[in-house]
Amino acid sequence: MIVLGIESSCDETGVALVEAGASPVPRLRAHALHSQVEMHQAYGGVVPELASRDHIRRVLPLARHVLAEAGCGLDAVDVVAYTRGPGLAGALLVGAGVACALGAALGRPVLGIHHLEGHLLSPFLSADAPEFPFVALLGSGGHTQLMQVDGVGRYTLLGETIDDAAGEAFDKSAKLLGLGYPGGPALSRLAQQGDAQAFKLPRPLLHSGDLDFSFAGLKTAVLTQAKKLGEALAPRKADLAASTEAAIVEVLVKKSLAALKDTGLRRLVVAGGVGANRRLREQLDAECARRGVRVHYPELHLCTDNGAMIALAAAMRLQAGAQSATTAYAFDVRPRWPLHEIAA
Ligand code: KG4
Ligand code: ZN
Repeated sequence: MIVLGIESSCDETGVALVEAGASPVPRLRAHALHSQVEMHQAYGGVVPELASRDHIRRVLPLARHVLAEAGCGLDAVDVVAYTRGPGLAGALLVGAGVACALGAALGRPVLGIHHLEGHLLSPFLSADAPEFPFVALLGSGGHTQLMQVDGVGRYTLLGETIDDAAGEAFDKSAKLLGLGYPGGPALSRLAQQGDAQAFKLPRPLLHSGDLDFSFAGLKTAVLTQAKKLGEALAPRKADLAASTEAAIVEVLVKKSLAALKDTGLRRLVVAGGVGANRRLREQLDAECARRGVRVHYPELHLCTDNGAMIALAAAMRLQAGAQSATTAYAFDVRPRWPLHEIAA
């Protein structure tokens, strides 16, 4: 079975081909990505209407590229998968519309996929693929969640952010420091030159006794520090970036360890854009090694949004019998869609 996957939920157009059947875990045949970062940079963030229009321009050329790279034609595609949500409504509609049009033209079924499920399963494409069950730390631009994952479609929410996501905390703090968009990678790069102990920043909900997160206060604390420094901020930027990153990472690490302890599970999967963070990976590796816990990450280039994770999630859902693809091509998208609400 060959699945064509299309991702268009935000500012990246991703298309990929995944093959399932021969091996227990589906295999990535080809994938291509176009990032809109440069286009949105002038505005300091994603402009939804521009995002939608750019997805329209990119998606078919990317699909052609992927098919050529895999050395097959459209007729080889058995299922067309797309991101159904959550994300920007207009951007999602592009992927859904193209997928359903392709499906109808080819007479092949289609399958709408939850974006976070794509992230969650993305480590299955890495050389060191996980096994169920595991605890998943999902950190994207809009979500920070800890889930217990017992199998495909069997996700139990353990905790989540009550306000901003960790990715948002990275992005908003980076903006305050004048690092532009997207802020996470830029802040993380600058942090490498700074002293993480330089500023005492809050670790929100660290001792709350549950697995929820809160990052909105941290952004305010960074703003307060930046204001206090005034003119003196420029030479201290790297220190403030390092201290901010340390605060976010410490909370993510401690809560992940608490989730492992609460569930008794010995395997952790880290996924979503924030999972690309170096300090987070280093600290999780060290803490988990100490406890004999296995940690799995997606390959770095599949940590942020891509089509491969969407094709993979579709293939895994179909293989697990969790869902069947449909030839009813009327589609809807779900800009807001909690992961634990997806049908098993
Ligand atoms: O999963 P993702 O690519 O898109 C969404 O589904 O939202 O995640 C994007 C988020 C952004 O907030 C971005 O700043 C953050 O992931 N991010 C990082 C790093 N790379 C991406 N945050 C910290 N360190 C990084 N290296
Ligand atoms: Zn994402």
